[in-house]
Amino acid sequence: MAFPQAFLDELIARSDIVDVVGSYVQLTRKGANLFGLCPFHSEKTGSFSVSPDKQIYYCFGCKKGGGVVNFIMEEENLTFPDAVRFLAKRAGMEVPEEEGDREAGRRRQRLLDLNRDAARFYYQLLQQPEGRAVQDYLDKRQIKKSTAVKFGMGASPDAWDVLLTAMTKKGYTKSELLEAGLVVQNKNGGLYDKFRNRLMLPVIDTKGDVVAFGSRVLDKSEPKYMNSSETPVYSKRRVLYGLNLAKKTKRPNIILCEGNLDIVTLHQAGFDNAVASMGTALTVEQTRLLSRFTKELVLCYDNDNAGRIATERALQILNDSEFSVKVLQLPRRLVDGEYVKQDADDFIKFQGPDAFERLLSGSENGVEFRMAQVAGKYDLANDEARVAYCEEISQLLATLPNAVEQEIYTVRAAEAARITPEAMKLEVQRAFKRRAAKERKAELRKELNPAAQAQPKERAFRYENLRSAKAEEGILRLLSMDNSLFPPEPPLKEADFSSPLLGRAYALLWQAKEEGRTVPFTILSEHLGQEEMSHVTSICQQPESLRNRQQALADYIRIVKTEADKRAGGANIDPLLAATEKYKDKKGTGGKQHG
Ligand code: UTP
Ligand code: MN
Repeated sequence: MAFPQAFLDELIARSDIVDVVGSYVQLTRKGANLFGLCPFHSEKTGSFSVSPDKQIYYCFGCKKGGGVVNFIMEEENLTFPDAVRFLAKRAGMEVPEEEGDREAGRRRQRLLDLNRDAARFYYQLLQQPEGRAVQDYLDKRQIKKSTAVKFGMGASPDAWDVLLTAMTKKGYTKSELLEAGLVVQNKNGGLYDKFRNRLMLPVIDTKGDVVAFGSRVLDKSEPKYMNSSETPVYSKRRVLYGLNLAKKTKRPNIILCEGNLDIVTLHQAGFDNAVASMGTALTVEQTRLLSRFTKELVLCYDNDNAGRIATERALQILNDSEFSVKVLQLPRRLVDGEYVKQDADDFIKFQGPDAFERLLSGSENGVEFRMAQVAGKYDLANDEARVAYCEEISQLLATLPNAVEQEIYTVRAAEAARITPEAMKLEVQRAFKRRAAKERKAELRKELNPAAQAQPKERAFRYENLRSAKAEEGILRLLSMDNSLFPPEPPLKEADFSSPLLGRAYALLWQAKEEGRTVPFTILSEHLGQEEMSHVTSICQQPESLRNRQQALADYIRIVKTEADKRAGGANIDPLLAATEKYKDKKGTGGKQHG
């Protein structure tokens, strides 16, 4: 998948990071850098920075970073080669494709074609006698023919290899069928259809491609729902069921539900703005996807404990976002003297679309939902419980960023607790001060512990030797910025680095230097994963004094060498001695030099 380096260099030169990022994020200049709202996490104040000098972006909030190619990979959800193609198109450059690249693109397309053909196959089966059982099930769930068509629903046959045979006949290979997750391999290597005797629900992305399948059994057996596994064309974190339809809605918001069939019922009842995150908690990737289509979300999760937890979690993800968020609470339903949970599908069936419309227009905002949760925990007729309620509710009120909101809900909480608004206000102020003090303390603790702060955010990259790692970071910073500072021969080997990641980045940057690449940073985007890239970017975006670079470089190299020698020495002496050395080091008496 290697593109010619001259092509990559020219592409990067023609894809200025400020222009590219600027078409997604509104940027304002502050000093040498530009700042804006991070597109990768929800926030209200801009901690996302772009450095025109270094041609990198870095978010101080979520700590994501990289070069222009990484930005497109993240934002457009593309692989490295596809992001390069994307940028080339933008810059009006022709891509010198290699056989390998064309192959990968073809393979993706084959998977999408296969999914589409499988969806057609299931769809046609539903219209035939073999699809009778599924059709009966649809009738039982009161799903109309036109709705089933709109969602592309189908039936998988009650047999082991009907899809396998049909798709093989169409020319798809066994490995393609396996890769798409449509067939499964048994212990003896034999293949069989994954989906059998189920209602098939194709998952269609916003481009209109069938990327996966959800499916439901027709009886009470388990598992109730079976979905496609992750494939090269499907990542469940990045897809929402029904968004292909909901994106065209004329309603002002998008409703988030838990279940696939809730979506189907809602659309059928005229709520064509409903989507579901297929059995997973709402992800940041999904909120980014949603932000392209709406500014207002309505959470409509089940009215049980799991649903409340899901709502709370979603509210947390959306807390600092630009979305305005509402919570639609479905009431429980009385059945034989007992209140049972009902989901959107049940509610529409029993209470009808008009009742749902009323709930939708009357839905509470996130604060009201949380306040009701707190109030529900206390018996406000009891004085002791009222005191406890005031304490907990004031903590919640103290977190509200908006003063007007805080005022309004403080008064409301006071009414609930039957105390004066003034008393409640005092309580909120106290809670606010306590929280601020706690945060200051935590900050201070962090400042007093520079070692902990110097560690990478990702545990996997933790530094074994902080002294060496800090010098290694300095070397990377200089090498990525100005590789002419470096001698013609590499002053260090990759193995001299105490951090494997930093060692690898060094080797790559050195390779770029030897190949005479004008933008050394790009080689990292090509070879490092997103997390690795973010960490290396966090290092490279830090300022490095312009003066005394030569001296700084020499110091860094010396430190890394010394530490590497110590390690090599330690490895060569016998374990007993090494243990004593370690023991001495721990006691702070220092060890003697080896090697
Ligand atoms: P629920 O169990 O709440 O089912 O799962 P539901 O949507 O009300 O289903 P019906 O009405 O009985 O048909 C909610 C969602 O969680 C996912 C599915 O996407 C489902 O729609 N799920 C559930 C799974 O992925 N696997 C399961 O085994 C169960
Ligand atoms: Mn249901």
